[in-house]
Amino acid sequence: MTTAPELSGLSSRMPQSGIREVFDAAQSYDDLADLSIGEPDFSTPDPVASAVATAVGTGVSSYTETLGRPDLRAALAEKLAGENGIDVDPDSELIVTPGAMGALFATVQVLCDPGDDVIVPTPYWPNYRGHVASVGAQFVPLETDPREGFVPDPEKLAAAVTPDTTMVVLNTPANPTGTVTSAERLAALGEVAAENDLWIVADETYEDLVYDGATHHSLASDPAHFEQTVTIHSFSKSYAMTGWRVGYASGPEHVIDAVRVLQEHTISSVAEPAQIAALAALDNRHVVDDVRDAFTRRRRLILDRLGAIDGIDPGSPGGAFYVFADVSAHTTDSQAFVERLMANAGVAAVPGAVFGDAGEGHIRFSYATDIDTIETAMDRLEEELNAR
Ligand SMILES: Cc1ncc(COP(=O)(O)O)c(C=O)c1O
Repeated sequence: MTTAPELSGLSSRMPQSGIREVFDAAQSYDDLADLSIGEPDFSTPDPVASAVATAVGTGVSSYTETLGRPDLRAALAEKLAGENGIDVDPDSELIVTPGAMGALFATVQVLCDPGDDVIVPTPYWPNYRGHVASVGAQFVPLETDPREGFVPDPEKLAAAVTPDTTMVVLNTPANPTGTVTSAERLAALGEVAAENDLWIVADETYEDLVYDGATHHSLASDPAHFEQTVTIHSFSKSYAMTGWRVGYASGPEHVIDAVRVLQEHTISSVAEPAQIAALAALDNRHVVDDVRDAFTRRRRLILDRLGAIDGIDPGSPGGAFYVFADVSAHTTDSQAFVERLMANAGVAAVPGAVFGDAGEGHIRFSYATDIDTIETAMDRLEEELNAR
């Protein structure tokens, strides 16, 4: 028997996300109130769907420039200037990517080398770990304090920097904690990054989903930080457009150009109908208000319900659509706890440990689902924990 040749080192370095494992496990249950999924339950808004149908009917189906269609880039530059305070040249400082995921992956590829240290506040979205591993860089989790709402601390960042550190990832609003980092705190973190010549990756995928007076701020709006920051946005969460796979990265020209060359060799360009969808979404930006209003009601409901269950502290996440609840009064094994909830109570959520060791003792509940499912999940959770 001949032995098959081996897979590359890359394939063994890249971990599968634990969120996907919960998703797979959930498939074996018939009646789950599923709060594990980080995807809005709405379908893509009508004006977007019909703009795409019309465009495809008239033959919009080509390769585009690797940076993206010029009309989409112009609209994105206008949005970045008007809403994020980031001024970019749409011909050189902005690229349309296959989701925020594609932007993050490409950015790490063009900015990191094997052996670099990349600092990521923890608990963190697990895909960052895969992106960092893919280039052979070291993933360095930065502890945050749950009592301070998991907001990254500039002093701790300064202490974590080593001669090998080249990048820090700042995600606000954050997955899984829902933490919104204030403008002042971002400026202080940016200062530490500047003093240490670090790249900053600002993942603003959830920029539109902030509640209760929280406001979203883009660090790259400060010209002092623009040259060291790649800012990443997405259509997925704001417009319920996860499957269209459109995001965009903005930043210094030489970085965007390197991402462009990488995309030239990988995806060539984002699918043109998806770019038309993005353009229509920007033309109908008001739909984001409906999405946010729905999440505002769901957030209130789940925070009230979780807060009323003994031994659960939901905290007060200001953004995204997650509650990262402290369940340490019930368990220190979040994986076993979630398995028990699925098997005994018919509730799916994500174990905190999936988001790094600092997430242990917590469970991530997503409220990107309908009110009835949230109510059912809360009824079942309450019953299961009371029946102990
Ligand atoms: C923090 C964060 N960044 C990026 C992404 C990727 O989003 P996209 O669908 O735009 O690739 C997600 C998706 O869950 C996320 O939670």
